[in-house]
Amino acid sequence: MVDIHNDLLIKDSLQKNGFYNIEINPSLDLFEEINKIKKEKNAIILAHYYQEPDIQDIADFIGDSLGLSQKAVNTNADIIVFAGVHFMAETAKILNPNKKVLLPDLKAGCSLSDSAPPVLFKLFKEKYPNHLIITYINCSAEIKAMSDIICTSSNAKQIVESLPINQPIIFAPDKNLGAYINKVTGRNMLLWNGSCMVHEIFSLEKIIKLKIRHPEAKLIAHPECEESILAITDYIGSTTGLLKYSQQNPSKIFIVATETGILHQMQKLSPNKTFIPAPPNNSCACNNCPYMKLNTLEKLYITMKYENPEIILKEDIRIAAKKSIDKMLEISASLGL
Ligand code: 13P
Ligand code: SF4
Repeated sequence: MVDIHNDLLIKDSLQKNGFYNIEINPSLDLFEEINKIKKEKNAIILAHYYQEPDIQDIADFIGDSLGLSQKAVNTNADIIVFAGVHFMAETAKILNPNKKVLLPDLKAGCSLSDSAPPVLFKLFKEKYPNHLIITYINCSAEIKAMSDIICTSSNAKQIVESLPINQPIIFAPDKNLGAYINKVTGRNMLLWNGSCMVHEIFSLEKIIKLKIRHPEAKLIAHPECEESILAITDYIGSTTGLLKYSQQNPSKIFIVATETGILHQMQKLSPNKTFIPAPPNNSCACNNCPYMKLNTLEKLYITMKYENPEIILKEDIRIAAKKSIDKMLEISASLGL
């Protein structure tokens, strides 16, 4: 049980290994305990829509990548507990150097972020000195530090459109989002060859069969999906965009092509509608992000209790990365996003 462990040993292991396998007293009401710690330590829990339902339910704020970074700028909390993946918690730390930023499991990475290793990206950037670099927020702090403007799936189109039409642009790391933005803006941005393992695995064939079985259903998809899926959708948008569309559209049934965590909020906000997760190209019926799902209520509790694992960044990287995030936040605010 958690109380008989040496606290220092636990803290040390949390920081080194990402997560310490601690047994928690099963009689503890984790919702109550977490709420208690939240008040005692003036902590805020920010959660992405892809988190498991319990975490979404205890969070102070649930949002997409843009909403979460905006919230991270405006919080008065002393501790930010980020229930999401590493690049998200890192973004919160970049914006809040004097606050403690915690991530329940340091191994909660991102395949898209991993697809842009800083050493290779630096070489790529050097080949195109006239290009401005717009980078999707799903990347490491090192990549943000090499970028001119960060974007998310909520504001990528508007950020690209805010630049002169003849401005050469590199868009990284998601080639699917980049191709989609090229299509809707008529630009010809140079695309880095990265992608998200979750959004690339949807089966076009199975989705078409589902659409035939449910002709009244709306197919809605995240722009990280492949072009062949996006070509047959009724609506394309960020997680917040998909959630709003599912509330506002009168249809009673939706096929949802993104990570399945979002279905929890969709169902909560529209209890009388049916949400079907778009099937992937394997034997599963749904599509979970293995990184997002590393966070659990138990890990959230341990993290808040021991204030560990904590996000630590090199100051020079943080300052350089902040410039490109600030630019995004500035443009988003000026456009009312
Ligand atoms: P948004 O939060 O911008 O919708 O992006 C989804 C995603 O893949 C986060 O990892
Ligand atoms: Fe990264 Fe994809 Fe998981 Fe989002 S869903 S965190 S892009 S691997």
